[in-house]
Amino acid sequence: MEAPRGRRAALLAWLIGVLLLLAASPAHAAGRCGSHPWCDTSLSPDARAALLLDALTQDEKVALLAGDDLAGASGGPHQHTGTSDGVARLGLPPVYYSDGPVGPRQGSATALPIPMALAATFDTSMAFKHGDVVGNEVKDKGNDVVFAPTVNIMRTPLGGRTFEAYGEDPFLDAKMAVGWIDGAQSEGVIADVKHFAANNQEGDAGPVSNVNQPGFPLGAPPVAGNRMTENSVLDERTLREIYLPQFEAAVKDAHVGTIMCSYNRLNGDYACENPHLLHDILERDWGFKGYVIADYGAAHDTPGNLNNGLDFEPWPGLAYSPPLVKAMLLAGQSSPQQVDEHVHRILRTLFAYGFFDRTAYRDDDSQIDKQAHARTAERIEQSAVTMLENRGALPLRARRLHSIAVIGKDADGFITGGGSGDVTPFSFVTPLQAIRKRAGSGVQVSYDDGSSASNAAALARRSDVAVVFAGDYETEGTDRACLSLECPNTNGDQDSMIEQVAAANPNTVVVLESGGSVLTPWRDRVKGLIEAWYPGEQGGPAIAGVLFGDVDPGGRLPVTFPRQEGDIPTAGDPEKYPGVAENVKYKEGVLVGYRWYDANRIAPAFPFGYGLSYTRFRYSRVRVRGRRVSFKVRNVGRRRGIEVPQLYLGLPSPGPGVVQPPRQLKGFRKLVLKPGASKRVTFAVSRRDLSYWNIGDNGWVVAPGCYRVMVGRSSRSIVRRARFAAGGGSCG
Ligand code: BGC
Repeated sequence: MEAPRGRRAALLAWLIGVLLLLAASPAHAAGRCGSHPWCDTSLSPDARAALLLDALTQDEKVALLAGDDLAGASGGPHQHTGTSDGVARLGLPPVYYSDGPVGPRQGSATALPIPMALAATFDTSMAFKHGDVVGNEVKDKGNDVVFAPTVNIMRTPLGGRTFEAYGEDPFLDAKMAVGWIDGAQSEGVIADVKHFAANNQEGDAGPVSNVNQPGFPLGAPPVAGNRMTENSVLDERTLREIYLPQFEAAVKDAHVGTIMCSYNRLNGDYACENPHLLHDILERDWGFKGYVIADYGAAHDTPGNLNNGLDFEPWPGLAYSPPLVKAMLLAGQSSPQQVDEHVHRILRTLFAYGFFDRTAYRDDDSQIDKQAHARTAERIEQSAVTMLENRGALPLRARRLHSIAVIGKDADGFITGGGSGDVTPFSFVTPLQAIRKRAGSGVQVSYDDGSSASNAAALARRSDVAVVFAGDYETEGTDRACLSLECPNTNGDQDSMIEQVAAANPNTVVVLESGGSVLTPWRDRVKGLIEAWYPGEQGGPAIAGVLFGDVDPGGRLPVTFPRQEGDIPTAGDPEKYPGVAENVKYKEGVLVGYRWYDANRIAPAFPFGYGLSYTRFRYSRVRVRGRRVSFKVRNVGRRRGIEVPQLYLGLPSPGPGVVQPPRQLKGFRKLVLKPGASKRVTFAVSRRDLSYWNIGDNGWVVAPGCYRVMVGRSSRSIVRRARFAAGGGSCG
C-alpha cells in the first residue's frame, strides 16, 4: 500500500536531514578510534596526531616512547616480539610488533626461503610475494608492525646475519627491499627496514664459534668487533653508494613506515643517536616521515637519543625508561618539545597507515591459509635454486636410474639460520622425502647421514648417482670463524666427506644449503652442484623439482663465491675485519663484493649474477639510444627455461682518488622463455645510475666521460658491450 503523500514528504525530509547531519559531522572510519576529535578521517595524519598529542599528559607521552613487554622477544606462541600498551583512557590501542625477515617469530609460521634465497630469484615479484606472506601472517598473529626486511649489505661472507639479507649489491638489495616492503605493507602492516646503518658484522668469536648450532641462541659471544660496540668507520661516498641505497629506496620508493637503527656506532656515534644518519640523511635528505625504532638494547644515552632522532624503544625502555626521561627533562638536558616531536612521529605514522581506522588484528593462526603460503614458499624456492655446475649429471632421469644415494644430515631435516630470523615451520618436507616421492617406486633411494665418510662413500659406490647435501649454519649474534663447511663443524667434516663420495662415484651431485657464500674446494670433482640456500619449509619438493628437471633452476648468485678465504674483501687486515680496538675500517671503500674481485682481478669460484639453466640463450641486436639499452634474448635450447639478463655500467673516474668499480649492476630482468621464443629487453638508465657521490659537493654527480655498457648473464659473463658519453664528456 502506498504511504499517504504527507507521510512520504515527512520521511524524505527526515532522510535529507540525516544525510545533512552526517555530511556536517566529522568523517569517522569504521575502525576502533571512536568519536574523539582525532578520529576525523578527513584530517591529515599530521593534524590528527597533533590533536591526540594535545590530549596526552606529559607522563603518557613519555610512556609512549618505549615498549612495555620484556618477555615477548623470546618468540613463544602468542608472544609479540614487542608491545606498546597505548593509552586506554584515550582509546589509543596497544601496538604489537613482530620479527622478522623470514616470517613471524611468534610460535610457528610458514618458514619461507631465507632472504638470501629471495635475492637469488632476481625477481621483484617474488619479493612482493615473500613480503605479502610474512605481512599476512604477522597480521594474523595480531601484530601491527613487522621488524623486516633486513637490508644490510654482505660486506664479509663471514657475517652471521648474511642469510637474513639480500647479498652484496646495493642495486639488487634495493629492488628486493622495495618489492618486499610493498608486499608486506599491502597487507596493512607497517614494515620496519633494518638495521640502519653500516651494521655489517656480528663480531668474531674465534674458533669457539664452532659451538654454534641450531638451538644455541645467538651463538658464541664475540671477542672482537662486537656489533653492540664496534665503530664502523667509512667515508661518506662509500656510505651513500654501498650501504644506504637500499634504505633510501625503502623510504622513497616503498614508503616504509618505520626504520630500525642498529647496534653499532657509525663514525663515532651510536646509530640510534647519530645526527648525521638520523637527521641529515634520513629526515632532511630523504624526507622520512615515519618513526625510528631502536634495535633491542641499541639506545644508550637518553639526551643523545632524544636530541638525535630516536623515536621509540620497542623493549621496556633503557634510554627511554620513563624515570630516566623524566629526570633528563627535570635536569633540562632534554626538552618537552623533543618528547612531543617523537610521539608526534609515532602517532602520525599510525594514523597514516590506518592503524586507528580499522579493527584490531586478531592473534589466531587459524586465519592463515597455510597451504597457499606453503605453495608460495615452494615457488619462491624453485625460483631461487641456483645451479653452479652441471657436467651432464642433471637433470636426473628417474626412468634411467635404478638407485640414488642421498647423503648428508641436511637431506633429512629442516635447515635455517639462527636469531631473530629463525622461524619454526608449521610443517616441512625434507629433500629426502621429496626425492623418494619424485623418484618413484622403480628407483631405490637409500640414505646415509654422512657422519662416516667411508660409509657414505660405500653407499655411493653401490648407487647410480650420489646426491650429497651439505651446508653451513649462520646465526645472528656471532660471525663464522671461517668460510668452509666446517665452520661451525656441527655436521662433521663435510668437505672431506664430499671428496670421498665423489671419488667413489663419478656421478656425484652436491646440493648446498647455506646462508651465503661458502668455499667449494671439490667443485671440479663433482658432476653437478646446486645452491639451494636455507630453502624454507617446502625446500624438499623445490629441490627435487630442480634435480629431476621438472623446473628450470631460476636462481642467480646475489653474492660472490670466492676460491679461497684470503680473497674476500675484508681478508688479511684486522683493521678491516674484525676491527682493532672496536674500530672497523671499511678500507675497501666502494669495492665491496664483485666490485672488489673485478678491481683486483681476482678470479672467483662462482661470480655474482651467475647461475646455469637447463637450456641455452643467445643475445643479439644490442641497441643504445640515449639512455636506453635494449637487446634481444632467444632461447636456443630444446626446453623451456629461465634467463636473467643483467645490465652493468662502468662509470668513468672523475679524477685521481675516486676509484670506480669496473662494473656495477644497474638493471636485471627475469625471463621465462619457451624453446625458440625470444624477447626484447629494455633498460632505461637513470641519472642516478650514472652518478657517483661527490664528497666535495655533498651530492650525486654525473662525471663527464665515457660510460661503458655491459650486458651479461653474470658479472663475469658479459655477452655484449657498448658505450655512450654523458655529463658533457665524450667517448673519444
Ligand atoms: C635484532 C633485531 C630484532 C630484535 C628483536 C635484535 O637482536 O638485531 O633484528 O628485530 O632483536 O628480536
